[in-house]
This record gives sequence, C-alpha cells and structure tokens, in this order.
Amino acid sequence: MIHASAPGKAILLGEHSVVYRGPAIVLAIDLRAHIWAEERGGDGIWIEAPDIGASGHFDSSGRYHPIRGGSERWRSLNPIRVVALEAMRRLEAARGLRIRVESEIPPAEGLGSSAAISVATAAAVGRLLSGENLPKEMVCEIAYEGERIVHGTPSGIDNHVSTYGGALRYERGKGFERFKVEELPLIIGDSGRRRSTGGLVAKVRRLWERHREVVDAIIDAIAQLSEEGYKALREGNLKRLGELMDIDHGLLSALGVSTPELDRMVYAARSAGALGAKLTGAGGGGCIIALVEQPDRGRVAEAIRRVGGRPLRAGFTDIGVEVEEI
Ligand code: MEV
Repeated sequence: MIHASAPGKAILLGEHSVVYRGPAIVLAIDLRAHIWAEERGGDGIWIEAPDIGASGHFDSSGRYHPIRGGSERWRSLNPIRVVALEAMRRLEAARGLRIRVESEIPPAEGLGSSAAISVATAAAVGRLLSGENLPKEMVCEIAYEGERIVHGTPSGIDNHVSTYGGALRYERGKGFERFKVEELPLIIGDSGRRRSTGGLVAKVRRLWERHREVVDAIIDAIAQLSEEGYKALREGNLKRLGELMDIDHGLLSALGVSTPELDRMVYAARSAGALGAKLTGAGGGGCIIALVEQPDRGRVAEAIRRVGGRPLRAGFTDIGVEVEEI
C-alpha cells in the first residue's frame, strides 16, 4: 500500500487582488491531508472518507454507489476519482483502486484542503501505478484536474504550494517563484464557518462592476502592499510585515469579504500582542492568520478562543508532498 501526504496553505498577502493583478504570497502550513492507495480487484474506484462519514464505489462508467453516507457524497469524493483517473490516463495504466482519505485541514475554509487531498492522491496513485515517485511537476499538474472540479479555473496556487511546500510568490502572467523563508511564527484562527471561494471572488467582481475606480484603487493598494510584504518577509522584517498584514485586512474588509467573526479574531489577536493579523483566503468565513512572536503565542491563542475562534498552531512548513510504501 502507498501512503502520501501533502500540506495545506495559508495566503499571507494578496488574496483577491491576485485575481486581477499583483502578487500573492502563499505559505505551506503543517496541517496535512493523507491518502492511502492500493490495488483492488474489480472495476472502478472505491473511496473511503471516514472524516465525512462517507465511502462508496465509482464504477467504470463513473456512477457512484454509496456504501456509507448518502448518494450526494459523490460530489465530495469525485475530485479524488478525477485525479486518480488522470494519473491512470497519463501513465496508461487502468486498475481497480481502493483509496482512503483523512485530512487534518478544515475543509472549505481557505486552507487548501481540496488541493492537499488532490496532490496526495496524485502522488499516491502515481507511485502505485508506476512503482516510482512521479516528478513533482507531474503531481502538481495531475492534482490541478481535481482543483478544476472543485473551483472552476483556479490560479493553481493551492496545488503548487501543497506539492512543493515552503513559500511561494505567484503573479498572473509571471507564474510561480518559490523562495526561502527562515522562520515565520504563525497562529491561525478558525471561525468554523465554511464558504465558497468562487462565490466570494464573484462578490468582489460585482463590487468592481458598480464602483470600478474605487475598487481598482483598493486592488492597486493590496498589490502594492503584497510587493512590499514580500520584500519584508525576505529581509526577515516581521514588524513591517505585520503592519502590512493589518493594512491588508482593512482593505479586504473594504472589498466586503470580512465578517464580524473574522474581525473579532483579528482585533483580539492584535490586542494580545500579534505583530499583525488579517483574514486569509477568500474570506466570508474561514480563517485569520496572525504573526505572533514566541512569548505572545499563548496569549494570542487564548484571545482568539475567547472571541469564539479555534486557534490552530499550524506553523509554516518547507515540506511538500511526501510518499512512502507501507
Ligand atoms: C482564495 O484562496 C484566494 C483568492 O484570491 C482566489 C484565487 O486567487 O483563486 C480569493
């Protein structure tokens, strides 16, 4: 049996503006999705997802036969099937498969849960079918097929950072650049509220259609601060980075994607000593990210808890997808 795991992500700066212009700075975080894959006699793909109480069989015509959980669960499990089929297509190897998925990443909260599952699936199935680890570039491309099912035409940020780990800068038309970060002390505050990235991107687009010049100015300001934050991060200037995160949260609120829960966590984290705090990902629920030096970590985590959030001590990680035979 093959086991693969891949990390989730948090956007440090540049969400929403990156859809239009300017860079996004994205970090892999050490919450991981795990996939176990093995061959199974018979036709099709059996998938088990105990976290969501679902298991079932996709037959070779793509029909879903639930074993546990309702038939509507096919929608959650389908990206895994699509990624496994894409790996089979590329490797010209069709097999019956059994795949089990477990994830530490809260789903639909902007932490790249679906991409981490797709990346780990691509890596596990690729190794199972070919007997060797696929090149990371191929894992990343195969995983993108799963992301397209979940998100339409995403930028590809999530599957990239989940495949390679570490810190990435991404800009439309310029692509991805992986860069070195020594240490980045983070706390993530989870609101527990799921949301749809596509819906929030569309909400910002509608605002732009109504107030083009104003919204363009906000997007330009986010693009500018992401550029400056990228420099501050590379120089290890955490104080400056924190200030830029605070400004970014204000601008994202102006775009209408913050919520009272996110604002409460952001202000609680700042009052408890965070160098900076902002929502991360598309907003509308999901999570905040706070930059917190070691002595203040306990206090900031407690402050987030007091306002109803769940602090996740998910640090930055350099480790991307990993595969092993067990
Ligand atoms: C969502 O994680 C980040 C957004 O900028 C959308 C995207 O870049 O695809 C809101």
